[in-house]
Amino acid sequence: MQEKINTLKPELLRAIEKADTLSALDEVRVSALGKNGQITGLMKTLGGLSPEERKTAGQVLNVFKNEIAAALDQKKEALETKALNEKLQSESVDVTLPVRPEEQGRIHPISQVIEETLTIFAQMGFELAEGPDIEDDWHNFEALNMPAAHPARQMQATFFFPGGSLLRTQTSGVQIRTMEAKKPPIKIVCPGRTYRRDYDATHTPMFHQIEGLVIDDKTNLANLKSVLLEFFKLFFETDDVAVRFRPSYFPFTEPSYEMDLGGAMARNIGKEWIELLGCGVVDPRVLQNCGIDSTQYQGFAFGIGLDRLAMMKYGIKDLRPMFEADMKWIKHYGFLPLDTPTVTSGLSLNGGRK
Ligand code: DAH
Repeated sequence: MQEKINTLKPELLRAIEKADTLSALDEVRVSALGKNGQITGLMKTLGGLSPEERKTAGQVLNVFKNEIAAALDQKKEALETKALNEKLQSESVDVTLPVRPEEQGRIHPISQVIEETLTIFAQMGFELAEGPDIEDDWHNFEALNMPAAHPARQMQATFFFPGGSLLRTQTSGVQIRTMEAKKPPIKIVCPGRTYRRDYDATHTPMFHQIEGLVIDDKTNLANLKSVLLEFFKLFFETDDVAVRFRPSYFPFTEPSYEMDLGGAMARNIGKEWIELLGCGVVDPRVLQNCGIDSTQYQGFAFGIGLDRLAMMKYGIKDLRPMFEADMKWIKHYGFLPLDTPTVTSGLSLNGGRK
């Protein structure tokens, strides 16, 4: 027995030593201690020995068996530790790698212009008013003196929803909502998104307007002119501003005007005058539609295209890319947060300075 062990032992120990994976080691274990393994085979021969021989041979064999089992366990542990170290190594994070570049956003020129515009109107004592993008027929048309068959509706190619509500075609509906909710004196501006079925270099299906409305018992056209003139001086940051009113037509104002802007901004683009906005004296029927006594109160209203203002002030040629969420475009035309005017921070337009 001892002889057999003497030849088998170095063989097995070498095989254990050589096994460099867990599965190779397991093969060695099976070949030694498995059902048909070599040590198991020796165990089986014990039965054919005399009781005396069996006792000593059995002891020697047991010691040998334990020795091999211990060697297998030790090697197994070593291989497991090695595998774990390798895994840790391959999955480690290299904290010295440079960070991935992250795109930094910018303030959109429209947001910037809304901020600038509100700042100026707040300083003139206007309050901020708001209305929904999804409007009803009454606020967008009917109450503004545009009943169902009115030809002026045709100029505002409208997106309708099933059931009759619509995407507002103008911010003028906020005039109605404001006058329904509160009595004069009223002095509000309302910037917001508006929608029409239009698409070319100067028209997009969604665009922006700011609406202004002033109602009290003595407001007149001269006030309208001075408010707008002052606004454009502050907005374009120049005193070289002229305004001119041309007679026009809007169903909700009487008389109605279109206002043209002259001066530095017009000359910049080689023009004497630029058509910029609609305005007028609020039609008494609009006041009556809102339950306001038109013999006591009067006022003016105006609606300015904000996209146009942004394009003029910041030299943007085409309207369409403004709404295409293009990082290159916004990096070129957008503003860093610090560029926004600080005047409005902390200044609430609702009930702001009067
Ligand atoms: N809502 C008009 C439009 O979208 C613009 C406008 C004109 C607004 C005259 C007004 C106004 O408040 O008085 O074409």
